[in-house]
Amino acid sequence: MKHIVSGIQPTGSLNIGTYLGSIKNFVKLQESYQDHHFFLFIADLHAITIPRDRLELRKTIKEVAALYLACGLKKDNLSLFIQSEVEAHSQMSYLLQCFTYIGELERMTQFKEKAQKQETGVTSGLFTYPTLMAGDILLYDAEYVPVGDDQKQHLELTRDIAIRVNNRFGDFFTVPKPLIPKVGARIMSLTEPTKKMSKSDTFVKSRILLLDDENIIRKRIMSAVTDTDGIIKFDPKNKPGISNLLTIMSAITNTSIEQLVTTYQNTDYKTFKEAVADCVVAELKPIKEKYSTIINSGELDAFLDKGKADANRVARKKIAKFNHKIGLGRKQK
Ligand code: AMP
Ligand code: TRP
Repeated sequence: MKHIVSGIQPTGSLNIGTYLGSIKNFVKLQESYQDHHFFLFIADLHAITIPRDRLELRKTIKEVAALYLACGLKKDNLSLFIQSEVEAHSQMSYLLQCFTYIGELERMTQFKEKAQKQETGVTSGLFTYPTLMAGDILLYDAEYVPVGDDQKQHLELTRDIAIRVNNRFGDFFTVPKPLIPKVGARIMSLTEPTKKMSKSDTFVKSRILLLDDENIIRKRIMSAVTDTDGIIKFDPKNKPGISNLLTIMSAITNTSIEQLVTTYQNTDYKTFKEAVADCVVAELKPIKEKYSTIINSGELDAFLDKGKADANRVARKKIAKFNHKIGLGRKQK
């Protein structure tokens, strides 16, 4: 059976950027790829590349796990697990570091941005993060990897590493393909719409969290930064605020941006923003309700246990084969 793999870092409460760029897309893909098995995980090993409070981290791991299910993922063709509970991920990361050049890692824009923000105490874990991510994907021979736009470069590096290993040792890894949503791959900040909506933005008004109350959601959208020309049209360069709101509405309602522009072009920003707020509120309401049932049930732990067992079965086999392939250990009988 073919595999689809993706992960989300537990680095803070999830916002609608992560939701529209990844989880909502996973839900859709589960419909269109029913013959594939999904390995989705909470990337806690990635989260510690930057210092985290340990109790906060543990709480967020559980929250992200519950949100995956609350967003409507079906359990049949899914293994949901916590990355650190499958040791092969850390092992594979080290092995792949030995097939990755320093120059390649130095070129990663996400590393450059994060390192710049941090200035001191930049860890080597942050630097080698793309090899951890490559391992996450190659361990499962993923055919497809659904991600938002910001992960494209890491995916390209993963493909380069896979091809390099295959050239040296014969076809060993499946070379994965990214699946980037047509609409919603890059949801922008509500306060600075030329920047990505991010969990780490210090400005809370820049984002909407999946678990935010209705009145907060409405306030955030009504005060989203736009422009003064009063025209509703899609033009990300000159009208990033309005274009972002159109993108959010389009990704939620599955209506094309052109269609939305036709519907709203003769209204004003207030009317349009109210409509966007209504659709965000309606989308998040059932998610919040499901979340509160799931987070307090034993169902979640049972499902994570099953996911851990499934993932370990596949990943342990692959890492043992890889060790052998590259000449580690003793000759197998
Ligand atoms: P992260 O929350 O950084 O672990 O990202 C999890 C997934 O959500 C990745 O596939 C990202 O590409 C995607 N993602 C994160 N932020 C956004 C955003 N603002 N717009 C669209 N996709 C996003
Ligand atoms: N690095 C991704 C992010 O920050 C999360 C992630 C980790 C991931 N491992 C992955 C995504 C493997 C897809 C596949 O968003």
